[in-house]
Amino acid sequence: MGGDDIKRIGILTGGGDAPGLNAVIRAVALTARNRYGWEVVGIRQGFDGLLNGALPQPMASIDMYDLLARGGTILGAVNRGNPLVRAVEQPDGTVAQVDISDEIVGRINALALDAVVAAGGDGTMAIAHQLVQHGARIVGVPKTIDNDLDLTDVTFGFDTAILTATEALDKLQTTAESHDRVMVLEVMGRNSGWIALKTGVAGGADAILIPEIPYDIRIVCEKIQTLRRAGRVYSLVVVAEGAAPIDGEQEYYIKGSGMMEGRLGGIGFHIGNILAECTDAEVRVTVLGHVQRGGPPTPRDRWLATRFGSAAVHLIAEQRWGEMVALQGTQLVSVPMERAMQLKTVDPDGAMVQMARDLGIVFG
Ligand code: F6P
Repeated sequence: MGGDDIKRIGILTGGGDAPGLNAVIRAVALTARNRYGWEVVGIRQGFDGLLNGALPQPMASIDMYDLLARGGTILGAVNRGNPLVRAVEQPDGTVAQVDISDEIVGRINALALDAVVAAGGDGTMAIAHQLVQHGARIVGVPKTIDNDLDLTDVTFGFDTAILTATEALDKLQTTAESHDRVMVLEVMGRNSGWIALKTGVAGGADAILIPEIPYDIRIVCEKIQTLRRAGRVYSLVVVAEGAAPIDGEQEYYIKGSGMMEGRLGGIGFHIGNILAECTDAEVRVTVLGHVQRGGPPTPRDRWLATRFGSAAVHLIAEQRWGEMVALQGTQLVSVPMERAMQLKTVDPDGAMVQMARDLGIVFG
């Protein structure tokens, strides 16, 4: 082992961005060059960048200096569609979805890339896994601000997201108190309530609504009214975008169809309207949205992203294709990419939710 046949590697970022992706790119480029003497090139727009004829860009060390503190991804990322299939019109006029995995693997070879680091979430890992089955030499770095990948204790971007969301809740608290209002803060969290839970506890919320615990809004109304009767005339409610009532469904701005995931959103206003009816308080709603995904990563996220990036390079040296780096406890490990889609959700009966309940927080 030692990656003796490797001279040139590529890196790409896929899915929604997350603070820390640029720190991964930097760690990959510097480690590959300094430790192994490999050339590193960046592939723009994720796997799509392998199909559009664009040439990868060399990642010279001079470009790496300002990357640690920079949010987003300098390589761009795509989180819509499936690059592994192409719609091809058939002789009978129908359109068939054709698997183009071999074409992408051929392009990786044509670009003289001896291996590729793919940094992304569950969708990116699923694509990478399929390409590895077709002969590509790819290793993975997990990424999501939602922190909902089961095989890694934490993903970079999450710490930055909860810092942003907690600062927002702190600011809402002061104005809520001034005006005796109920403030509803909608945060990200498609399938999991980690951002909502951590933010809600850190920012002193009275109610936290998460996808894992279908809510009964009457419990939130009762909580707010009880507080008001006791003299605490403002309240804070944090709701994950993917939360849903016990007898209803998630709220979407745009419903998905086929391969397109729907765009969640609207639950904050939905909750706000009900709370305005069932309490005697004025209610205001804030949807934090993509503010949570932007900006400089926290030092903790920079550190984790750097560890992941450098570990991915060592995976390549060890020719461990199809594996993804992960943090388990304090140890960096590697796990099979195809298991990256296993979701890590908040346990409704777990210690964290119980602790929050003990503090008086309701989950609806
Ligand atoms: O997966 C991360 C995430 O932030 C989700 O919480 C959210 O639903 C989604 O990305 C939004 O993605 P987009 O950039 O497509 O709006």
